[in-house]
Amino acid sequence: MYLTLKKGDVVRVSGPAKVTVASGEVLLLGATYVEGASLTIHRFRSYAMLALRDSTLDIRVGEGGEAAKVGPSDEVVVEWLRIAESLWSYYSEEGSLKVVIVGPVESGKTSSAAFISNYFTSRGETVYLLEADVGQEDLALPGTVALKKVTETFLWQRELGHDVLRFVGCIAPHVCKDEILCAVSDLSRLVPEGAPLVVNTDGWISGVKALMFKAGMIRWLRPTHILVTDVDAYTFMRSASLGAEVLYLPPPKVIRERDRAARRYLRRDLYRKYFLDSRVIEVSLSKVPFMKSRIFGGAEIPRGLVEEVIPQLKGAGKILRASKLGDSVYVLTENRVKEQHFTEGVKAYFFTPQDLRGCLVGLVGRKYEDVGVGIIESVKLRNGEVVLKIKTPVKDEVRGLIAGYIRLGSEYQEVGGEKGCFI
Ligand SMILES: Nc1ncnc2c1ncn2[C@@H]1O[C@H](COP(=O)(O)OP(=O)(O)OP(=O)(O)O)[C@@H](O)[C@H]1O
Ligand SMILES: [Mg+2]
Repeated sequence: MYLTLKKGDVVRVSGPAKVTVASGEVLLLGATYVEGASLTIHRFRSYAMLALRDSTLDIRVGEGGEAAKVGPSDEVVVEWLRIAESLWSYYSEEGSLKVVIVGPVESGKTSSAAFISNYFTSRGETVYLLEADVGQEDLALPGTVALKKVTETFLWQRELGHDVLRFVGCIAPHVCKDEILCAVSDLSRLVPEGAPLVVNTDGWISGVKALMFKAGMIRWLRPTHILVTDVDAYTFMRSASLGAEVLYLPPPKVIRERDRAARRYLRRDLYRKYFLDSRVIEVSLSKVPFMKSRIFGGAEIPRGLVEEVIPQLKGAGKILRASKLGDSVYVLTENRVKEQHFTEGVKAYFFTPQDLRGCLVGLVGRKYEDVGVGIIESVKLRNGEVVLKIKTPVKDEVRGLIAGYIRLGSEYQEVGGEKGCFI
């Protein structure tokens, strides 16, 4: 279908759709597109386009997609444009810019990060995007925080990939707040002084814990601007701003909502893409440390001794590993032991290699820097050593593993919820 637009008209397009600019000039997510430009809008995305001149669009919508002209006040694109302009003039005067976007789920955080980035790269600037929404980690894969240097315009962060990542090991921010804060602060230090940095955060903002976590983010990032897409959070963010300018960024008026299943599907897509070109490596835990692991991190208990103290272990087959950490004992056996064991203040937890299968682990390289992520495929005892098989696209040498909470099934679907893995 062809849509004829007057300068200032706004069109809302919900994917799947393909839009070709037949004539004129339109603004989409902060970037301008002129005659001949073609854009593909994903089925989980919808956007508002603003005609910068009289224009004609050739729009082909797929199943479930939609495109229609809306009144300019039915959309927020003009307000977003004002905000991008004001950030641009700040940057032009001060020579530095650090923006943190805070708001609830489905409030336009990802889209506004893209908007600002596109606005800047269209003007020849290089922008750094820091994706701190561990559940919707579009640059890399869920369970990480990632950084990307951006020089081109784009529609969805998923097109970009990442330059560096930090494994945090969870998809729900409340599960690993500290890791996220440290990872974000660590990655932000890789950005050249003053270069425009846009930080997207997760949508966990209701409740005191969530707000304190966001305040922590501001404290350690020290942004120049905080964009808040929520009226309630706005007041709190002002109190936590440490001199940053706090701007209210109105959320899109009509949202392409994604339910839990759609979000899981979208995460699965990211895992699948990340592990597409993988190999399987063998890691011997006698040579490679497993950081933050309860099973492999504690003091090893001689196998004979555990069997003596814990009667349940009879029939559990080979003990691959038994370790004591604090007042708990973690025992990895060949066969499943049903009940937990609790005696004299010591609690024993039992695991089989099957429980570790599919767990995501962070991989660190020669200098113990994060080099990527792997999936545990198997855990075996070989000549008294525990050997893990790990699937990963990482080519570098692996010098250490980091435990997390995410577990994936054979089709990259998450299993066991936000704490599906317990190592
Ligand atoms: N101007 C707009 N008009 C209509 N829909 C829009 C507009 N901008 C964004 N959307 C859609 O609204 C949905 C939510 O936007 P977005 O993903 O940017 O929000 P978010 O706050 O990052 O969400 P999440 O918490 O899920 O990460 C997306 O599907 C997006 O395509
Ligand atoms: Mg988002």
